Amino acid sequence: MILPIYLYGQPVLREKAEEVSPEHPNLKELVANMFETMYNADGVGLAAPQVGLSIRLLVIDADVLFDDFPECKGFKRAMINPDILERSEDQVAMEEGCLSFPGIHEKVSRAKKIRVAYFDENWVTHEEELEGFSARVVQHECEHLKGEVFIDNISPIRKQLNKGRLNSIIKGTARCSYRAKAVGK
Ligand code: CO
Repeated sequence: MILPIYLYGQPVLREKAEEVSPEHPNLKELVANMFETMYNADGVGLAAPQVGLSIRLLVIDADVLFDDFPECKGFKRAMINPDILERSEDQVAMEEGCLSFPGIHEKVSRAKKIRVAYFDENWVTHEEELEGFSARVVQHECEHLKGEVFIDNISPIRKQLNKGRLNSIIKGTARCSYRAKAVGK
């Protein structure tokens, strides 16, 4: 089932998400719905707050980027209660977008390499080292679980330049090709 994506301005995007418990009802169904919602919107990552749920869950499938970023080949994950254990000092600036910010793309500096621990949807623990764009997607999605969003990382000038579009996202008048939920609508 395709869920509506909560857009910038929705308070849930600013909440600190709660840990998911193994007793969480219908977790597998939620994971499947989040993948479906993400694919429908042509995204490569989606965090639970973006579907209105303040819980520490995210889904990623960056395989489609593999032509430009070979490290994304087969990079499909559901991550429950993820924890970034280490970040390299080395940073890389690259353009990114977010399904909660239709039409906005900005360069963001992020650690080139990370080590992340998480549970998958079967509650199996994993720990992996990631580098390049796959590390970027995980950092972007984990930020959502802290109540932060990617434009928090851009300069005040860049933010000012996007002000019109940000306001139209809040008002619900921004062009958006998928089912979305703006504050103003
Ligand atoms: Co995002």
